Amino acid sequence: MPLIVYLILRSARRARLEGRTKSMQRVTNRGLVLLMAAISLFASNAFALDGDPARGESLYSRCQGCHSIDVDRVGPRHAGLFGRQAGSLAEYNYSDAMRAAGVVWGEATLDRFLTAPRKFIPGTKMPFAGLPDAQERADLIAWLKQATAGTSQP
Ligand code: HEC
Repeated sequence: MPLIVYLILRSARRARLEGRTKSMQRVTNRGLVLLMAAISLFASNAFALDGDPARGESLYSRCQGCHSIDVDRVGPRHAGLFGRQAGSLAEYNYSDAMRAAGVVWGEATLDRFLTAPRKFIPGTKMPFAGLPDAQERADLIAWLKQATAGTSQP
């Protein structure tokens, strides 16, 4: 009789332990899935920023209706763009939204701005719908970086 009770208790304990291991396994699996998702997200971002400046140069024609590297036109000049506070050229008449954006131009901020200018800086007066193609944005940003290297900050 005590042996039977002992056996029942032992199998009950084992079942409980197994249950716990299973739920722990489930948690670990979920963790792994999240980790994989994070890694693939990170990897796709890293690849997206690998731009081709030669292709970016021809894409810049879409900006040249309003911009040039060296002089202000309808839009502000792009000289000294990388590291520049948005809306900070003294000679150019920005929108209040651009002046108050609190953004510093670099690869990441340009990528977000060029995806959808009026979403990233609501109220901007830049009348450009955006470049939805991540590779095109990366190419254009790579070209801008090259073309403005060594140009002066305001
Ligand atoms: C139809 C005209 C037009 C086109 C096309 C255009 N822009 Fe602009 N851009 C503007 C105007 C106007 C502003 C000033 C926005 C403001 O003050 O809100 C501006 C502002 C900017 C700024 C902010 C600069 C600063 O000094 O803070 C960047 C960066 C920029 N444009 C990049 C681009 C790029 C890259 C393209 C091409 C993909 C482009 N723009 C296409 C008119 C244009």
